[in-house]
Amino acid sequence: MSELKLETIVALAKRRGFIFPASEIYGGFANTYDYGHYGVLLKNNVKNEWWRAMIQERDDIVALDSAIIQNPRVWEASGHLAGFTDPLVQCLGECKKRWREDKVREEELGDEHAEGEIHCPECGGELSEPRQFNLMFETYVGPVHDEDNRAFLRPETAQGIFINFKNVLQFSRKKPPFGIAQIGKSFRNEITPGNFIFRTLEFEQMEMEFFVPPADAGEWHDRWMDERMRWYTELGIRPEQLRLRAHGEDELSHYSSATSDIEYLFPMGWSELEGIANRGDFDLSQHAKFSGEKLEYVDSGSGDRFVPHVIEPAAGVDRAMLSFMVDAYDEEEVEGRQRTVLRLHPKLAPIKVAVLPLVNKDGQPEKAREIYEELRELMTAEYDTGGSIGKRYRRQDEIGTPWGVTVDHQTMEDDTVTLRDRDSLEQSRIAIGELADELSRRLAEPWTSPKLGAAA
Ligand code: GAP
Repeated sequence: MSELKLETIVALAKRRGFIFPASEIYGGFANTYDYGHYGVLLKNNVKNEWWRAMIQERDDIVALDSAIIQNPRVWEASGHLAGFTDPLVQCLGECKKRWREDKVREEELGDEHAEGEIHCPECGGELSEPRQFNLMFETYVGPVHDEDNRAFLRPETAQGIFINFKNVLQFSRKKPPFGIAQIGKSFRNEITPGNFIFRTLEFEQMEMEFFVPPADAGEWHDRWMDERMRWYTELGIRPEQLRLRAHGEDELSHYSSATSDIEYLFPMGWSELEGIANRGDFDLSQHAKFSGEKLEYVDSGSGDRFVPHVIEPAAGVDRAMLSFMVDAYDEEEVEGRQRTVLRLHPKLAPIKVAVLPLVNKDGQPEKAREIYEELRELMTAEYDTGGSIGKRYRRQDEIGTPWGVTVDHQTMEDDTVTLRDRDSLEQSRIAIGELADELSRRLAEPWTSPKLGAAA
């Protein structure tokens, strides 16, 4: 278990405008969150880096953005209507709270499958027999709320990809192995949400379905596990905080023949960041059966046909963002003062450079603004004049800004500025004319966390 408390991240996220509890002025709404300015920028950077790895740096994956509300038959075919359930128990004692049976078993008996009597974690009361509870949010299309008009908010983005397999195959001229990638919101009526943005009712997923010849599925599963581990570590997550864990037979989802989770050592312990599943031909075969469409690949040369097998790396945007924030969080003492700093990979940092006049006079604010306006053409930049220089730097450290440019009296004489590095706190003097190139060079460089090897 790491030393850092989740509440510390929650407090920083609120204090610095990353994430707010949703509907706060109405007393909040459990397990929903709103993302503020820096949260939006960080989240966008996470998504952009995923798109870069999936689309820009490869030529065997295409993008998709499918609808959230689909024909309800999709969820029949996928198995979600019948099988996307959690066992729910209710306290028959004082508090009457509802719990997930498997989680109570795990906490009380040490294993979610252990036999034996369990009790209400809140008041110790007797618990009801379990009843299966479907996690999909229902809605109604049109004015009449009856069974015929019932629809669902998607619980995963993946099915939108499978039902578009034929469309994509036709327009993209791809042949297996190839993938379809999508980022979008998913919704689950979780019984035990919690741990801040780790498990919420609505969240964003980054999912890619990779269609392969059946005989190659095992090899591609291994390749995607390596690829995805590399993505997190190249974006600065310390390898010692990451692990791959293969699901046991009894843990596998209804569609999967093998799944491994990438887990991160969150403050609450090792928890899933991303699942990488071998879904076989389950989804394409199911949708072919339910829709009557042939969902297969036919080789135009040989005439060979087969239903591709699917390897699926399925990640959560919000969870990834939480892991980047947790991994980046650091406190240190500098010259007798406590400093809190988010050591984010520069590519993920919401703001890349802050431009600060040392004092609010002598032409320094105007000069700083001029530099800021030039730099913002290249990268996200901030111009800040409010408060002492120390206070402004503390604020930038807490939002993870990797570089700070200070305009001082010398700038007004020789057109040089100081360039401060967030992690090393080194300050170098540099000509204004060289700033843009220097910052672009630094941004393109590989980066490893200065926390590497240090205690969590
Ligand atoms: N298509 C496969 C699928 O959806 P999953 O393991 O249920 O698999 C994939 O979800 C990822 O989505 C998870 O690893 C997690 O990062 C994210 N995720 C799932 N449920 C979530 C929730 N309630 N809140 C936040 N993220 C969630």
